[in-house]
Amino acid sequence: MRIVLVGPPGAGKGTQATRLAEKLRIPHISTGDLFRANISRQTELGKLAKSYIEAGNLVPDEVTIGMAKDRMEQPDAEGGFLLDGFPRNVSQAGALDELLQTEGIKLDAVLDLEAPEDEVVKRIAGRRVCRKDSAHVFHVTYSPPKQEGVCDVCGGELYQRDDDSESTVRKRLEVYHTQTEPIIDYYRAQGLVVTISAMGPVDEVTGRALEALSGK
Ligand code: AP5
Ligand code: ZN
Repeated sequence: MRIVLVGPPGAGKGTQATRLAEKLRIPHISTGDLFRANISRQTELGKLAKSYIEAGNLVPDEVTIGMAKDRMEQPDAEGGFLLDGFPRNVSQAGALDELLQTEGIKLDAVLDLEAPEDEVVKRIAGRRVCRKDSAHVFHVTYSPPKQEGVCDVCGGELYQRDDDSESTVRKRLEVYHTQTEPIIDYYRAQGLVVTISAMGPVDEVTGRALEALSGK
C-alpha cells in the first residue's frame, strides 16, 4: 500500500507509523526523522534544516522534496510506503503527485489522525525520544520508560527534542493549520482521505487505523 499519514504535531503519527509499517510490511518514511538524522550527523542538509526546525517553520520545499524523493526511490519502497510528515503543504502534495504519475503509481489512502489541541500539547510536553533510534518514543506519563531517561528497547539515552519547547510547539501548530491542513481538502477531492480519532490507548488507535485502511 501507499499511504500518507497526516495530523497535527503530537497526534501520534510517528507512534502509529512504526506499528502500521510493521503490520503492513512497508517502510516508514518520516521526513522529520530524516532531517533529525542529518542534523545529528552534521551534514550540509542538516545544517540547513536545523534553524527552520528549531523555529517551528517548514524546511524549504526545494530541499524537502528532493530528500523525500531520494528516499522513496530506494529499493525497499518499491512495493509501497507509509509517508509520515510528507507532504506538508499543497506544493509538496503536487510534487508527490507528479512523482507518482511518472512512476505510474497511485496513493491508496491518506490517513488523517484527529486529536484536540490540549491533548497534543500534553503529548509533546511529555515526549522523550531515544538518541540511538528515533522509532523508540516514550512519554513521561502515558508510556514511561522503566528507568528514567533510558530507552527500554536499546538502552540509549532519552532526550527532549529541541523543537518541543512551548513557544515552538505553538508555532508548529499554527503552521499545521495554515499550511498542512489544506492538503486534507486537496486529497479529499481525490477521494483518498480516511479520518480517525487519535484519542485513546495506542493499540486502540492502531486497530482503528487498520480497520479504516482495510476499506481502501
Ligand atoms: P516531524 O518530526 O514530522 O514532527 P511533527 O509533525 O510536528 O510531529 P511530531 O513528531 O511532533 O508528532 P507525532 O504526531 O509523530 O507524535 P508522536 O508519535 O511522537 O517534523 C518536525 C519538523 O521537521 C517540522 O516542524 C518541520 O520543521 C520539519 N519537517 C518535517 N517534514 C517536513 C516537510 N515535509 N516539509 C518541511 N519541513 C518538514 O507522539 C507524541 C507523544 O505522544 C509521544 O510521547 C508518544 O509516546 C505519545 N503518544 C502517542 N500516541 C499516544 C496515545 N494514543 N495516547 C497517549 N500518548 C500517546
Ligand atoms: Zn532506543
